[in-house]
Amino acid sequence: MKSDVLSMENISTVTIDYRQYLSTTEVAAIEHEVSIMETREAAGIEALKIIQEHRGWVSDDSLYAIADLLNMPEAELEGVATFYNLIYRQAVGQFVIHLCDSVACHLTGYEEIYQTIKSYLGIDYGQTTIDGKFTFLTNVCLGGCDKAPSMMVGKQHYQSLTPENVVEILADLAKQESEND
Ligand code: FES
Repeated sequence: MKSDVLSMENISTVTIDYRQYLSTTEVAAIEHEVSIMETREAAGIEALKIIQEHRGWVSDDSLYAIADLLNMPEAELEGVATFYNLIYRQAVGQFVIHLCDSVACHLTGYEEIYQTIKSYLGIDYGQTTIDGKFTFLTNVCLGGCDKAPSMMVGKQHYQSLTPENVVEILADLAKQESEND
C-alpha cells in the first residue's frame, strides 16, 4: 500500500533540473536550435532528436530535463515525442529496423521479408535482440514504393528487399561494432 502512495507522489512531483542532467554539449546543441526558432517550445522536436542522438533514446528523465530547459510543460513535450515515431521512448538496440508495412510493400513481398527478419533475429515487432544489436519496428510508407519492399535502419534506406539480401544486410550490420564498444 505504501508503495502505491509513493508512486503517486512520484508521478505528480517529477521535475528534473536540466543543469544536473544534460551535458553541456547537449545543452549547447539545443540552445543553438532555440536560437533559430521563434519560441523555445518550437525547438522541442529538435531537442528530442539531439538527446536521442547522444543517448540512443529519450527516457522520461531526459524528457523532463528537456522540458525544463525549454521552459515548457512536460505533457506538451510528451505529445511531440509521441507524435513523431522516430523518437524512441524506450531503450532500443544499436540498430533500429523500421520495416514498411504499407500497401505497396504488402503487394511486393512484405510478408516474406517480415518472416525472414523475425526468424533470422528471433524477435518480433517491438522487441530487441538479447545482444542489444537490433530492435524491430513496423513503419508506415517510407517513400520508396517504386522499389518496394523497403526498410530503414538508422538513416539508411534499403529497397527492393528479398529474403536473401535482407539477411545479408542484417549480417553486415551485426558485424559493426557499437560506437560505445
Ligand atoms: S509502401 Fe512501403 S515504401 Fe511506400
